[in-house]
Amino acid sequence: MNIEASRRLQHFQTGIFAALNEKKDALVQSGKKVYNLSVGTPDFPVAEHVKQALIKAAENPDNFHYSLKDLPEMLEAVRTYYQKRFGVEISVDEITSVNGSQEGIAHIGMALCNPGDVVLLPNPGYPVFEVGAYFGFAEQYFYDLKEENNFLPKFEDIPEDIAKRAKYIMVSYPYNPVCAVATKEFYEELIAFARKYNIIIVHDNAYSDIIYDGVYGGSFLEYPGAKEIGVELFSLSKSFNLTGARVSFLIGNKQVIDAVKLLRSQYDFGMFLPIQHAAIAALTGPLDGVKAQCAKYQERRDALCKGLRSIGWDIRDSEGTMFAWAKIPAGFHSSQEFCMELMDKTGVICTPGDAFGSMGEGYVRFALVLPVEVIHEMVTVIDQSGILKK
Ligand SMILES: Cc1ncc(COP(=O)(O)O)c(C=O)c1O
Repeated sequence: MNIEASRRLQHFQTGIFAALNEKKDALVQSGKKVYNLSVGTPDFPVAEHVKQALIKAAENPDNFHYSLKDLPEMLEAVRTYYQKRFGVEISVDEITSVNGSQEGIAHIGMALCNPGDVVLLPNPGYPVFEVGAYFGFAEQYFYDLKEENNFLPKFEDIPEDIAKRAKYIMVSYPYNPVCAVATKEFYEELIAFARKYNIIIVHDNAYSDIIYDGVYGGSFLEYPGAKEIGVELFSLSKSFNLTGARVSFLIGNKQVIDAVKLLRSQYDFGMFLPIQHAAIAALTGPLDGVKAQCAKYQERRDALCKGLRSIGWDIRDSEGTMFAWAKIPAGFHSSQEFCMELMDKTGVICTPGDAFGSMGEGYVRFALVLPVEVIHEMVTVIDQSGILKK
């Protein structure tokens, strides 16, 4: 019997990237020295007190039952964390856990949209943003993020009829993949725009703890009026090296939170209890490790961005996130062409910018997941390969 997946799933066929992945896998298996900077999984370890909380909780057989809900202690830990870290007052019914921001973003369109609604999405875009709109049967409108505007949107370029039909706008700073941060003025403008057209703001805040050069990494909810119109995804993945645990929170406007909770109650029986205990330990424990880790990412950022500039590749300094975003060197016609040749000549693996949408064409993204010494070595390998002198 020939079984075909649904037509809706055909949307996700990505032929070109499958080829790129195949090449990447072949290279990794070939035994050749590989510098894999394509995947954004932190190589830093989880903090000991967080690991111990998880282990201790896993020793109790009761913690293997369905949790069915967020533990009140965990919600309280999130509430207190937002108060101390960002000076933001939220109540526990303005918080829900999600199984990673990825899951929350993928489903938020289903909780909020009706056919005919529009979702405003950034281009370049973190891929799951589009998935959320697609799963919500919404029309997608992509707003451009251009380097000359420091990768911030120009709200005046969004047509009025689109803005009027928009249900929510996805925004994220510090932003993966473009590695830019947003100003206070930007958030004020965003809130004013959203208020004018009754648009919900969904702010993905995965990198508030990975921000460079002493710039403050805050929360969207710090801005006056934010909670009346928006929600924020707050992930423990990158700040606390808990990517595999899948623990994040959606925080803010209660009506949005209630809609997402209702949807989640239909397909989820709650977060694994030992993970909830690990989250409590992370949020209530010392945060000096988080700061120290940001400093290490900054050293890597410097090794990569300054290093590549020193060999004649003029790339911007990443302002935040655990990535760097680089214009492809002269002489190449596409991000994929450059990535393929870079892999062949140097063993360096990065992500072609068009994986994030049409505005990503002409760029590549490096994940800062290797130690400084290895990044120095990689820069030398790139230099010696002659790829920049094409
Ligand atoms: C911008 C952005 N949002 C969300 C995520 C997913 O985070 P989580 O691990 O909480 O699902 C990532 C992960 O790389 C990301 O870069």
